[in-house]
Amino acid sequence: MYFCISKQQLQIGIMSTRFKRTLVTSALPYANGPVHIGHLAGVYVPADIYARYLRLKGEETLFIGGSDEHGIPITLKARAEGVSPQDIVDRYHELNKQSFEAFGISFDIYSRTTSDIHQRVASDFFRTLYDKGEFTEKVSEQYYDEEAKQFLADRYIVGSCPHCGNEKAYGDQCEQCGTALSPDELINPRSTLSGSQPVKRKTKHWYLPLDKHEPWLRQWILEEHKEWKSNVYGQCKSWLDMGLQPRAVSRDLDWGVPVPVEGAEGKVLYVWFDAPIGYISNTLELLPDKWETWWKDEETKLVHFIGKDNIVFHCIVFPAMLKAEGSFILPENVPANEFMNLEGDKISTSNNWAVWLHEYLEEFPGKQDVLRYALTANAPETKDNDFTWKEFQAHNNNELVAVLGNFINRAMVLTQKHFNNKVPTLGELTEYDRETIAEAKKVKEAVESNLEQFRFREAQKEAMNLARIGNKYLADTEPWKTAKNDKARTATILNIALQITANLSIVCEPFLPFSTEKIRAFLNTGRFDWNSLGSFQLLPEGHELGKATLLFEKIEDEVIERQVKKLHDTKKNNQVGADAAKAVKPIKEVIQFDAFEKLDIRVGTVLECEKVPKTDKLLRFLLDDGLRERTILSGIAQWYPNPGKLVGKQVCFIANLEPRKVRGILSEGMILSAENADGTLALIEPERTVLPGSPVV
Ligand code: 2FM
Ligand code: ZN
Repeated sequence: MYFCISKQQLQIGIMSTRFKRTLVTSALPYANGPVHIGHLAGVYVPADIYARYLRLKGEETLFIGGSDEHGIPITLKARAEGVSPQDIVDRYHELNKQSFEAFGISFDIYSRTTSDIHQRVASDFFRTLYDKGEFTEKVSEQYYDEEAKQFLADRYIVGSCPHCGNEKAYGDQCEQCGTALSPDELINPRSTLSGSQPVKRKTKHWYLPLDKHEPWLRQWILEEHKEWKSNVYGQCKSWLDMGLQPRAVSRDLDWGVPVPVEGAEGKVLYVWFDAPIGYISNTLELLPDKWETWWKDEETKLVHFIGKDNIVFHCIVFPAMLKAEGSFILPENVPANEFMNLEGDKISTSNNWAVWLHEYLEEFPGKQDVLRYALTANAPETKDNDFTWKEFQAHNNNELVAVLGNFINRAMVLTQKHFNNKVPTLGELTEYDRETIAEAKKVKEAVESNLEQFRFREAQKEAMNLARIGNKYLADTEPWKTAKNDKARTATILNIALQITANLSIVCEPFLPFSTEKIRAFLNTGRFDWNSLGSFQLLPEGHELGKATLLFEKIEDEVIERQVKKLHDTKKNNQVGADAAKAVKPIKEVIQFDAFEKLDIRVGTVLECEKVPKTDKLLRFLLDDGLRERTILSGIAQWYPNPGKLVGKQVCFIANLEPRKVRGILSEGMILSAENADGTLALIEPERTVLPGSPVV
């Protein structure tokens, strides 16, 4: 007899015999802001489903997470807030760790790249490659800020975009036209640290010669890993086809792991060199004696869960580092996802266009599984997808409530009502019962094969299918009717319904860990292992059930409308902010302190104020300047239609400006006003009354 086995099935078969354990890693998010639904959908929920599934199957599994605490995003955030990078990472590491925990992301460890262990492991890793001669060294010219006395990362340089003229384009990208730039392309580059014009300075860096690794990478990925997801394989292929270039693995920066080489003062490891080593150091932190089994034994299957922007680092750069080191295994798969958008727009941390996990937890207490479910149902596995609150509501109301919750609730309530809350006896089976059981038994394989191929949305659909089978079974057999005259038949139906419920507690566990815990409490049972999925003897006859409550509750329109409004308010605020930012004039050229000191700015009290006849704009002020009375003309008449009301107020003026005659009146100085974005002017007055003539210092 011949069986037809697909190549994919064959590979799965081979893999499951070759490996003894699985090491699951999920990208270490930058600790420069809170995590949002995009993180959860793209990386952490799929990784968690996979890890939970393997554990349920009884496979030896380790799931590594943590914060990426180095790199420019962190130093930028720290500068913006006027705090230290350590303050930033301390804040977000803790917040994100708590958010992940609350969503049931079952990391075995969630550590951080500022830990001492990581610093040592990353430093040693670099040193090993250095000693083996795996790096090349190159001196290049980079922008340097002579006032701040430091080299400038691309993000620290702004200038005019050569494509659209935006005066605030960054050294790596123009955010107005989206073009990727290099600092050399910027017109009139300036340092964001001091505002000064940066100069070019020579600096030495270490490079990983990826070009040298290209031949084996081509063979390993393009020939030996054709089973990788097409988005991952395709991206790797285009990188390889373009030809790999050496990559700098060090930076001139004061935040990161110092380069452990003499003469490298002021240099740190490039964040993308040290971050993936975080997977190793976190394993070592958790299992100081056994970490090598997870990283150096060919029987360990290493799987990296990441977003699409991380593909090149996990499929090309990190494997090249591991290979260069020589004693590590390489990833077996890198099931990267595409991006999750939000209500039609790209999720953006800086624009606050996101659903933040810590806020969701506050606004939807106890509904972690609902979000896990909605994100998986719409997972961006093959293309970018969009999260909308309306769809979130529909997944909850039409699937979790109407299908899963409804089925379990009916099975529980009917058993309570007709069988004193005890699992009733299974009697003779009808043909339809047998068909239903056979259908239900097929779910295991369908879910498994999808999970093994990282198709989580399909896997979840198959798992939910079991609840649909159960619902249909109850609708067709109508135990509420048979209960009136056929107790034995009712018992059989409810026994089957309860066995399906017990099966749901297994098959839904990777997707809905909180709800399956509740289902087990309803059934008054412990956790079943994955291999018992498909059994219809999970609950013995006469077994006493627990108390059932509602598994999911309907989410009303108002709740959803509130969330949509919150997002739209964000958009409005962003627009106002963006308009204001555009209107704010660039800072003028830097001046020396003595230039400032030459200005004599003082406070005067208004003695008289009136419009200068036959002019539109001019007001004549007579001020008490503490020494004498002085006249100053100011062009602010249109904003002060009742100038007489200014008498008695105090204003600021430049006292040593050369006097000038205007319309026959000698103006002895200049009165200071603030100019709004729309050009309107407002006088500046001291916050408290001071002695006339007081200098502004
Ligand atoms: O893209 C990011 O958020 C990176 N911090 C991911 C790093 S993954 C790994 F290398 F640590
Ligand atoms: Zn531009």
